[in-house]
Amino acid sequence: MANRTERLTKQRIQQIPQAPYNITPAFIREASGAMMIDVDGRELIDFAGGIGVNNVGHCHPKVVAAIRDQAGKCIHTCFHVAMYEPYIDLATKLNELAPGDFPKMTMFANSGAEAVENAIKVARYAKKRPAVICFENGYHGRTLYTLSLTSKIKPYKFGFGPFAAEVYRTHYAYCYRCPFGLTYPACDIACADYLEEFFVSHVAPESTAAIIAEPIQGEGGFITPPPEYFTKLLKIAQKYDIALIIDEVQTGVGRTGKFFAIEHWGVEPDLITSAKSLAGGMPLSAVTGREEMFQKIHVGGLGGTFSGNPVSCRAGLAVLDILLNDGLLERADTLGQKILKRFTEFQQKYEVIGDVRGKGPMLAMELVRDRETKAPAKEEADQLVKLCYQKGLVLLSCGNFGNVIRTLMPLVITDEQLQRGLAIMDESLHELNIGAIK
Ligand SMILES: Cc1ncc(COP(=O)(O)O)c(C=O)c1O
Repeated sequence: MANRTERLTKQRIQQIPQAPYNITPAFIREASGAMMIDVDGRELIDFAGGIGVNNVGHCHPKVVAAIRDQAGKCIHTCFHVAMYEPYIDLATKLNELAPGDFPKMTMFANSGAEAVENAIKVARYAKKRPAVICFENGYHGRTLYTLSLTSKIKPYKFGFGPFAAEVYRTHYAYCYRCPFGLTYPACDIACADYLEEFFVSHVAPESTAAIIAEPIQGEGGFITPPPEYFTKLLKIAQKYDIALIIDEVQTGVGRTGKFFAIEHWGVEPDLITSAKSLAGGMPLSAVTGREEMFQKIHVGGLGGTFSGNPVSCRAGLAVLDILLNDGLLERADTLGQKILKRFTEFQQKYEVIGDVRGKGPMLAMELVRDRETKAPAKEEADQLVKLCYQKGLVLLSCGNFGNVIRTLMPLVITDEQLQRGLAIMDESLHELNIGAIK
């Protein structure tokens, strides 16, 4: 290990608890676009994008300029003490961007989990009901309520209970491992229809404030439902006057080639949460949704000291400008096609790749020991991530079994960087010899 990295590693081990985990041993000195340089000068191609935060790339010049300008003018007043323009402007833009031909409002918070907490508060207050329905393989954060919604036990939930009450979990549309043993499209989306049965045996619809779902389950393994799924889910929610909350913390802000992933399916949710890439790396999250729901809540019912910080909001306005005016959504589409082509080739070449799925450049490969039994290949996924890192590529796994390899690279990645990263993946799969088709 090189000098600075060695010193910092020792210090990190001594001074910082082990629980905040590290995927790579790298300490980054600077980053730009889709490249990171560590403290010893080693270059890394970034396919992780700070776990979906760097859609517009590291240190995009427009984001940096907006941050610098705002930092020189006003860093913090607290929105509840004295308001400022960037909060109003960004909220107005998100209200326009969110799908739905009805009046909308936006409030800001700091993290994805905080946005989800607020969305649940809004739904519970507006509907005057306690229960929330969430999904197998779902991930919504690490605060008490969002952890209660989150579906993976280790490492997230283990040892941290008891959890919040009135959380009910049902099956998601995980077609590769259909919980009903059915096959799409013959299944006729039975997993959505199952909600009617769920209302009989788990929770009454009259007690349910909200159904919260990710449009593509992120941490759960980039699980991508079939096109009809959300239309059906919304119909059931509307039948019982239940709010549909779509958690776009990972999928939103251009990740899938649309501003919000739910737009792929033409569905208009009651509330949408966004965070991660919203402010180009600055902490900021948002809840956007029906004005009629927000406006039921009394003055002072929602808020927070740092929520909607002016510097973060200015960064957010720059991100929107880049995505919408610099052709980045179109670039995301092209990027997605290129990655999908290579992942499909990998699947033909390496038996270990059981499934390829996703939307736009939010793509994943699920690794299995055997294509028939679909036994999850977690160790193999770990080895692949490790070997890619040794070769200069930062890659992430996900999935409840940790056996899914996902791509969250900055959308500004150059073709050359992309092809270099994909070549490292190919080379590593080959070297690991994990089920190459002979
Ligand atoms: C869908 C989803 N919701 C919520 C969260 C929590 O966001 P944060 O880590 O910013 O609290 C995440 C984080 O990965 C996420 O992917």
